[in-house]
Amino acid sequence: MKRISIAGTGMYLPEKILTNADLEEMVDTSDEWIMTRTGISERHIAAEGETTSNLGSKAALRALEDAGVAADEVDMILCATVTPDMMMPNTACFIQDQIGAKNAFCFDIEAACSGFLYALETAKNYILAGTAKTVLVIGAEKLSSFTDWEDRATCVLFGDGAGAVVLREGEGDAGIKSIVMGSDGSLADLLKIPAGGSKAPSSAETVEARQHFINMAGREVFKHAVRCMCDAGKTALANAGIRIEEVKCIIPHQANMRIIQAIGDRLEVDIDKFYVNLSRVGNISGASIPVALDEAVKGGIIENGDKLLFVAFGGGFTWGAAAMEWGK
Ligand code: UT7
Repeated sequence: MKRISIAGTGMYLPEKILTNADLEEMVDTSDEWIMTRTGISERHIAAEGETTSNLGSKAALRALEDAGVAADEVDMILCATVTPDMMMPNTACFIQDQIGAKNAFCFDIEAACSGFLYALETAKNYILAGTAKTVLVIGAEKLSSFTDWEDRATCVLFGDGAGAVVLREGEGDAGIKSIVMGSDGSLADLLKIPAGGSKAPSSAETVEARQHFINMAGREVFKHAVRCMCDAGKTALANAGIRIEEVKCIIPHQANMRIIQAIGDRLEVDIDKFYVNLSRVGNISGASIPVALDEAVKGGIIENGDKLLFVAFGGGFTWGAAAMEWGK
């Protein structure tokens, strides 16, 4: 069986930082509430005119450099995003043009905060099928364009950023061991951007009703997120034949510190095993896992031979988990 591994990682976070103190000036909130309820203290916000594809391109170029792969060697680009540059064409095509990957075919994956793991599994299977050899898998989000900056329940949560990996056939034991995914469309209403699609095309009325922004029933989402990420994580490890004690580092989707703590409690693993950058970046949806992975690898926290677990949950609902052994 071919082993598919990550040959390089990269990420990009916009320069501008929005702190909890800044938010105190914008809505009726406090640093104390945001920190105790979420664990977030600041988030990066894209500059005026900077798009999701601009963030994704910067992360992609860094991942290519890390892998020692030229842009024209890439034959497939997948962009996981819930905040595309436009409804059409797809954001992966914009990234292709910006990085000069002229030999790639490109499409987006929309599975909200689980999108990166869905894209990883899709890319892996294209390589296994022989359709592609070198794939750029990118998670890129400019959530600030879809955040209602007057809604304190959501505007304190989100940030902008992008992470990318280069996926290729590897050698030895390292690589992706198992990925599991799940969805429950009956709960779609709990986390959505209601307008701008075919159900409610953009109109003066939808804009007036602020329906082009993210709308979330936070408490309900919280409950499902913990249960689904734990179950998926256990299944991914079981399918890979890896015991939780063997896992060196767990990289969860970073939405809320209390969710991460609850996952740790349920899986009976110490919180120190989780790589957490939530306090500095906030919730960056599909970019969350690849940004954290790049930081953990470049920071020397993850080394060759380490067993890793990724878990994610997002709108749809969608969720997933991946077990892998690190090594290029
Ligand atoms: O990314 C993938 C999916 N997303 C998630 O996984 C997010 C999951 N959900 C959560 O992380 C949490 O539910 C939130 C952080 C969104 C909210 O925390 P919570 O503990 O569930 O708070 P709540 O929504 O139940 O609100 C509690 C109170 C309310 O006041 P009352 O009704 O009790 O008087 C809110 O109005 O806190 C109030 N509140 C705030 N107060 C100060 C809500 N937002 C704020 C705020 N500042 N920013």
